[in-house]
Amino acid sequence: MDYDEIGLSLGDQREAALARTAQHVLTAWQEFDTAREHESLPSEALHQLLTAPLPSEGINVLDVIDQAVEVLDSSLAQSRPRYFAFIGSSGLEVGALADLLAHSYDPNLAVDAGAATELEWQAVSWLAQFIGFPAETGTFTSGGTISNITALASAREAAIPGARERGFRHIRPTLYCSTEAHYSITRAAEVLGIGSANVRAIDIDDQRRMRADVLREQLQRDVANGHTPVAIVATTGTTLTGAVDPIEQLADVAEEFGVWLHVDGAYGVPAAAVAGRAYLFAGLDRVNSVTVDCHKWMFVPKACSAVLVRDAASLAKVFAHDEAYMPHAGGHYNAVDITLEYSRPFRALKLWMLFSTHGANAVRTAIERNCDQAQMLFDWIQSRPLFETLSSRPQLSIVPFRAVVADCPDPDIHNDALCAAIQRDGRVYVSPATIDGHVWLRPCFTNFRTTSDDVSTLLDVAQELGADCGVLHS
Ligand SMILES: Cc1ncc(COP(=O)(O)O)c(C=O)c1O
Repeated sequence: MDYDEIGLSLGDQREAALARTAQHVLTAWQEFDTAREHESLPSEALHQLLTAPLPSEGINVLDVIDQAVEVLDSSLAQSRPRYFAFIGSSGLEVGALADLLAHSYDPNLAVDAGAATELEWQAVSWLAQFIGFPAETGTFTSGGTISNITALASAREAAIPGARERGFRHIRPTLYCSTEAHYSITRAAEVLGIGSANVRAIDIDDQRRMRADVLREQLQRDVANGHTPVAIVATTGTTLTGAVDPIEQLADVAEEFGVWLHVDGAYGVPAAAVAGRAYLFAGLDRVNSVTVDCHKWMFVPKACSAVLVRDAASLAKVFAHDEAYMPHAGGHYNAVDITLEYSRPFRALKLWMLFSTHGANAVRTAIERNCDQAQMLFDWIQSRPLFETLSSRPQLSIVPFRAVVADCPDPDIHNDALCAAIQRDGRVYVSPATIDGHVWLRPCFTNFRTTSDDVSTLLDVAQELGADCGVLHS
């Protein structure tokens, strides 16, 4: 039996399937150029399709492609210019093309895949050059969470050599980050056996950055009490407000105590490449490891993160295995020896195609534009009596704001209802966040398609829907 008789090849429908897909992709890209006025909701027919039982036989691929596009069109797409929730990506066009190519050839980056492996090294090096971190090596992962765990696994092995084999025995490890670090740090402490109770959440200053003086005091206490510090994590842009921890000051403390300094730059570190923001990242060249999510502010589609490390041996020290079925040819490590994952897709291709097609300057310009949009929104809000902002200006591209309606009995309930009303309305999409116990709207700009008109629409819609407290509460 020929393989095409099995029924898994598209056979003579290949060209038609590619053409149909290409047409849909083109339509989507053209639509993403401008915002649409409402989100499409799934139809009843689509609901039925999505609850249908497992099909034993297939249907025409062209119909399946159309169905897939209907699903996508009825889903929240972060690529749209007025998606301001969480920390979105942009589904960069060449990134999507890279994924199609990479998935079609499907190399496995766990082992030496030839030129793909070479390209991955180059992409690591380009990324390190872009943000200004002298990485000796690095690897692509599925996201910031995994990059943080990967870096902190290396930090654990550096602080407690042999911990991967023998555990901690009598050693009591501790981990340090600000009160506003991403919860992937706590998760890393949990899965690495450090324990979430041993994560020291360090106080923040009036700009919501980790306080180096409090960190130093906490380290002094812990060391005196016999704890073993594993790592300090500086967040350079926090998820909540985009605050950038003071790397230089934290590096002084890290050096004083001989502790690994990791930068969780999943969201914000690409801004280190922008002239107007680089000062926030002073000291980046002194840290041990950095997480960068390319699927956030490098605009490429998910999932594409990278962890960069200063010392090439540090990843292998914790991850390398010598297995009979995975020989180290010529004494060289395989990629699997420096990663948490085993089989790995060719994630680096999309970053490589981004830099190759558009160049680093275009990426810088897009990031700078998002930062400018945040400053602009902050200033606009100051001029509208209905709204308030946090007291400090945005450091990157997150601008929390909330409606302050006179005589509103509960501003938190009002702002929560306002956020839900904005989401239902569909012209813009924004998510809520709790800051110091209160509810805020928390727009974040990480999309190269977003224009200043899109930003002003956000404020107009919030004003229109949020001016009257009673309307949303009734
Ligand atoms: C600062 C920070 N670190 C880590 C993460 C986790 O990244 P991912 O969702 O790619 O796992 C995020 C996600 O928003 C983040 O903002």
